[in-house]
Amino acid sequence: MNMNNGFPKGFMWGGAIAANQAEGAWNVDGKGLSVADVATYKPNVDLKNYAKHMSIDSETVQRAAEDTSDKWHPKRRGIDFYHRYKEDLALFAEMGFKTLRVSIAWSRIFPTGEEADPNEKGLQFYEDLFNEMKRLNIEPIVTLSHYEMPLSLSLKYNGWVDRRVIDDFVRFSKVCFKRYSHLVKYWLTFNEIDSIHRHPFTTAGIIPDQCEEGKEEQEIYQALHHQFVASALVTKDCHEIIKGSQVGCMITKLTTYPRTCDPLDVELTLKKNLENNFYADVQVFGTYPKLILRDLELRGINIDFKENDLEIMKEHTVDFVSFSYYMSMTESGDKNAERTPGNTVLGVKNPYLKSTDWGWQIDPKGLKISLIELYDRYNVPLMIVENGMGAKDEIQNGEIHDPYRIAYFKSHFKAMKEAINEGVDLIAYTSWGAIDIVSASTSQMSKRYGFIYVDQDDEGNGTMERIKKDSFYWYKEVIESNGENL
Ligand code: BG6
Repeated sequence: MNMNNGFPKGFMWGGAIAANQAEGAWNVDGKGLSVADVATYKPNVDLKNYAKHMSIDSETVQRAAEDTSDKWHPKRRGIDFYHRYKEDLALFAEMGFKTLRVSIAWSRIFPTGEEADPNEKGLQFYEDLFNEMKRLNIEPIVTLSHYEMPLSLSLKYNGWVDRRVIDDFVRFSKVCFKRYSHLVKYWLTFNEIDSIHRHPFTTAGIIPDQCEEGKEEQEIYQALHHQFVASALVTKDCHEIIKGSQVGCMITKLTTYPRTCDPLDVELTLKKNLENNFYADVQVFGTYPKLILRDLELRGINIDFKENDLEIMKEHTVDFVSFSYYMSMTESGDKNAERTPGNTVLGVKNPYLKSTDWGWQIDPKGLKISLIELYDRYNVPLMIVENGMGAKDEIQNGEIHDPYRIAYFKSHFKAMKEAINEGVDLIAYTSWGAIDIVSASTSQMSKRYGFIYVDQDDEGNGTMERIKKDSFYWYKEVIESNGENL
């Protein structure tokens, strides 16, 4: 139990990025196409309608896969982290990062997901990256699956709907554990595993028109079950291969409040929050919650559990819970209640909160509430592995003044500190997009989260030069003082 006043000694301050949004180099050194490489930038996107701008069908995927340019597929460019990682890590080290969350692009290691042998050049890239991090005393937190499965598995099997993908993922993960056993201690299995319902293609390679008609929901739950089993299997392997390793689940924390004290609002909110907790429940407790099973039964959804699935899940649970937190929402029984977008959700607007330019409601208190709720529920260490605000930044005389970002972080760090003082065991914090990267949902570059500006626009124009924002210097001080100087 942490009895500190404030952030504990050794608290892991840092930042996070994902391979598919940062690395670029989509077709070099043997990398195969991933689902992220066919994500298309849609100018003038309707921000309220995430379902529309993230929607996908077979024809679009096919067309994008045949397109050999990166013009409309910004994730193919990323910010060229693949070639510039040394420069970027040096900047992170300058800020004092203790940790950096990255992901391994599966299709760099197994280009189609099904090769007999891994691609050495892909493996070498991550080995070099982790060695450089070690040299700089930056502890890696590595996600195995962050929206970037080989496209081939999506086209051939409709992604995780097919049970065979479990074996491919376990093989890929084992290769990583063996190769990086001396370099990586902290692993996350699936990024925001719950997001399979909100964007099944990005999360699990599922193209809805390839599902049996009327069975989309059924197939999504089946795919989710396969990911739960895979997560337990790789947790087992990781513990066996890397002594002292720690494996975490990763969920989108979508804290929801009742819009009013009308019991209907409260009931709807309770259900929303139970649903949001379901994913960590399974990975921490190793069982499906009874109420979720009953709900699936009532909806006519039957998960095909194979022999031993439930035993495997029960036996190989995670060591810690990690989560993303950007905003909160409210829920209401009033169908006409005004709505606002959040992280790939559309929630009811909260009159007490301000929003970002993308409509996400800024709520530091919600982070404290989430920390308390999660720690009370799971009693395992917590990591915040994504948090931040997407904003438009402007360069003025070569400088970027971003007081809005500093204010966002400051209020969230205060909330973290309060939760820690009240007994929550929070061990790490990695802000999202510590350096500007391509947005997951909109593929925009102009939705910037970083402490470091990257000179590139939505259509790929720019020098890729890195420029420190005001928040860079501010975060450096926060880390230096271990969260005392806010
Ligand atoms: C999380 C994802 O949901 O939100 C990240 O794990 C993503 O990949 C982040 O980038 C912010 O969302 P967006 O759409 O603004 O990039």
